[in-house]
Amino acid sequence: MYNEIDLDKIDINSEPPTEEPARQYYFMAKCRQIVKLESERLGRPLYACTQTFGCQMNARDSEKLAGILEQAGYKLTEDENADFVIYNTCTVRDNANQRVYGRLGFLNSMKKKNPQMKIALCGCMMQEESVIDKIRKSYRFVDLIFGTHNIFKFAELLCTMLESESMIIDIWKDTDQIVEDLPVERKYPFKSGINIMFGCNNFCSYCIVPYVRGRERSRNPKDILREIEALVADGVVEIMLLGQNVNSYGKNLEEPVSFAGLLREVEKIKGLERIRFMTSHPKDLSDELIQVMKESKKICRHLHLPLQSGSTRILQAMNRRYTREQYLELALKIRREIPDIAITTDIIVGFPGETPEDIEETIDMVKQVKYENAFTFIYSRRTGTPAAAMENRVPEETVKEGFDKLLKVVQDTARERVALLQGQVHTALVEEKNEQDTSLMTGRLSNNTIVHFPGDDSLIGKIVDVRLEECHGFYYVGEMV
Ligand code: 5AD
Ligand code: SF4
Repeated sequence: MYNEIDLDKIDINSEPPTEEPARQYYFMAKCRQIVKLESERLGRPLYACTQTFGCQMNARDSEKLAGILEQAGYKLTEDENADFVIYNTCTVRDNANQRVYGRLGFLNSMKKKNPQMKIALCGCMMQEESVIDKIRKSYRFVDLIFGTHNIFKFAELLCTMLESESMIIDIWKDTDQIVEDLPVERKYPFKSGINIMFGCNNFCSYCIVPYVRGRERSRNPKDILREIEALVADGVVEIMLLGQNVNSYGKNLEEPVSFAGLLREVEKIKGLERIRFMTSHPKDLSDELIQVMKESKKICRHLHLPLQSGSTRILQAMNRRYTREQYLELALKIRREIPDIAITTDIIVGFPGETPEDIEETIDMVKQVKYENAFTFIYSRRTGTPAAAMENRVPEETVKEGFDKLLKVVQDTARERVALLQGQVHTALVEEKNEQDTSLMTGRLSNNTIVHFPGDDSLIGKIVDVRLEECHGFYYVGEMV
């Protein structure tokens, strides 16, 4: 575990070490020297801002970037009017890319006023060649670009950027390397994400993730447990185990371990109160996992189980490797075995060849499973994926109609499910002050439902009992008991 290595003791005039993570500590020390000199010259601290697009994985990666920036001597800020700004990008759907381009335009105008500002881009979008070409051509003011596979080298890349005047681009096609023990700056002191695996081998036909995040690699269980123990010692009570497909965790390790087996070990960690995980693929969800969840006192009563479509024909074209019937049987089994569980899902509307009848099948599935929440997405064509070459595209109007119809059913069934908790007392982990009404605190139930209730800052990070009084669709207003 990274435990405050004394960077000031590193001799930055010697050659950099070749092994990791020592090499990165060396470059952190070197950056620290450069940042210090610049800060003395300006007579003020240097500020750095990380902005995250996309999923929990990226949020965790950004905490790693922030940890390194802090070690390099930057003060972290949310304000993009900073000396160093890094966008950790997402490319799962095209609107994520468009947002990055839009925001870059805005950063350029800031850089014109403050020419010493440095701008970096990293994350999934940077793994696409067409994106790099476009930035090279039309966004010349960007100083550093790297991808998902070499994020562990951020300190080294930052150092190269600080010593150079030209655009630095370093993109790797893939890696099998997992570098442990780099610093992390957590957003929340009391909860944390933990990567248990990287990449994805599923190749769902619409999805770009396997191309930009590479092949599936699991972390060693010992490293995961050691990291969680250190987090707990540092005040963390809730963790979220992160992977594109946590149910296939450990299959490729030298000594294979199942995800359920890993959860059993995590459960034993003293002081840890809550365990979450994301994301499960229905095809790999084992009975052993259901059993472990059922018996656990710490695993939260929430399962995110992406459906994508309720039509077997579309599921097959999506390469999801389960049928409508198999999914339904699994979801109902989970509801039967763990009655207080909340099931949430992801659904795509407008996949090539999807008909209004297919949408009806998806809607029927939502009605039967009664999801507590469902994230609905319009299909986005991703260059290089098998679905991008499919010719039977769905007209925009049909997509929109299907989407609106589905959304209405999702909202109605979710409201109905969430309303079942009315009047009950549940434990909530208090996460933050409510932004709109500062007399209220916001907490999260084990089943992931949000509750707002009167309280003060001293409750943040604590687990308290709350009576759920008024249901407002996806969230509650309540009272501490
Ligand atoms: N278009 C629309 N939605 C997509 N997702 C992944 N790829 C695409 C795409 N090309 C959705 C899936 C996945 C979620 C993270 O994003 O529903 O579960
Ligand atoms: Fe994409 Fe499918 Fe892998 Fe999820 S499981 S990241 S949807 S390829």
